[in-house]
Amino acid sequence: MRNVLVTGGCGFIGANFIRLLLASAKDWQVINLDKLTYAGNPENLDDVADDSRYTFVHGDICDRELVESLFIGQAIDTVVHFAAESHVDRSIEGPDAFMRTNIHGTFTLLEVAKNSWSVVGKRKNPYRFLHVSTDEVFGSLGPTGYFTEETAYDPRSPYSASKAASDHLARAYFHTYGLPLLITHCSNNYGPYQFPEKLIPLMINNCLQGKPLPVYGDGANVRDWLYVEDHCEAIVRVLDQGRPGESYAIGGHNEKKNTEIVELLCDMIDRKVGPLPSGNPRRSLITYVRDRPGHDRRYAIDAGKIERELGWTPRFTFAEGIERTVDWYLAHGDWLQGVLNGTYQQYYQKMYSDRQGAAETP
Ligand code: NAD
Ligand code: TYD
Repeated sequence: MRNVLVTGGCGFIGANFIRLLLASAKDWQVINLDKLTYAGNPENLDDVADDSRYTFVHGDICDRELVESLFIGQAIDTVVHFAAESHVDRSIEGPDAFMRTNIHGTFTLLEVAKNSWSVVGKRKNPYRFLHVSTDEVFGSLGPTGYFTEETAYDPRSPYSASKAASDHLARAYFHTYGLPLLITHCSNNYGPYQFPEKLIPLMINNCLQGKPLPVYGDGANVRDWLYVEDHCEAIVRVLDQGRPGESYAIGGHNEKKNTEIVELLCDMIDRKVGPLPSGNPRRSLITYVRDRPGHDRRYAIDAGKIERELGWTPRFTFAEGIERTVDWYLAHGDWLQGVLNGTYQQYYQKMYSDRQGAAETP
């Protein structure tokens, strides 16, 4: 029996993780602390809201009193820390919230966990703090090579720099205080419940609405895509079997250029719902726009360590994962409409009108 504090559980990966945990054979209590920013949606967990093993707490990870009261009141012995500001483009436009949540919020959780561990944790085994990081802390790869757990940090966006800072804090709490800490570095996730500001759900949404598909720069940037359920299973594996003080790189062995992804989505959606009302295929919506400043060229993960040491490999091929994802968005039009509210329209307008008219030729 464990009492797991999941932070950011109303976001994309957190919600998928909580659903997986509650569906597993584990009899764990799950306490979800989420501030419900624009990216957090309690409806993402509607189907488990009545489960007696699940409690939702609306609050901020920077609120030390609240975090302390949760650790004591709920006898927390396991933390899975997802809560973050997570979108690179937003970090370029307004980095403040990233520094606050990603750095100060992580610091607050670590401080409280360290204090509670020194009282409860040393008596209670296992006690674990799993810090969910990203491969973006390692910077940008050239055409060859892979990120591993040994790759030197080289963050290049305000988002990745704030995540790198939080990783360093987390490691310091392991080395200095002995907090049983684990770090995961995952590549780009895709799947159900992802907010339509990220590449794949944004393109699906625009395809459905017949809007331009804004591809940054020459469209040849590469990401290593992993289906979210595979990421969540890897996190459970690291919680169960990972060694404190270690980090684990998690990836999909699935490198794709952005244009490949967008073209594939266009073709799949044409096939599933028919071409645009004009009769044109959706590829005609592809629009090359001004590049993202500091745009990392390529990410790719060597996930050999987690495979060798913990026996984890992804279950879903990209073909399976992307088909499930598109089908999920087609079947959840209400969810999509719900998140495409006034604030989203303002965001989209600002972010994308700035980019139009300044396209590079691919
Ligand atoms: P997301 O943006 O979908 O969700 C973030 C969640 O955190 C939201 O529910 C939001 O309300 C909550 N939150 C934000 N600030 C908070 C605060 N101060 N207090 C409490 N809750 C707060 O993010 P995601 O894509 O699910 O990513 C989750 C984690 O995984 C992040 O730490 C991210 O850096 C990491 N990660 C994401 C990816 C990816 O492809 N999405 C890849 C690797 C790592
Ligand atoms: P994104 O989903 O924002 O993830 P990240 O930047 O964290 O990897 O973007 C994935 C890739 O898609 C990245 O190379 C930027 C590109 N991209 C576009 O070309 N157009 C878009 O509208 C978005 C959101 C992203």
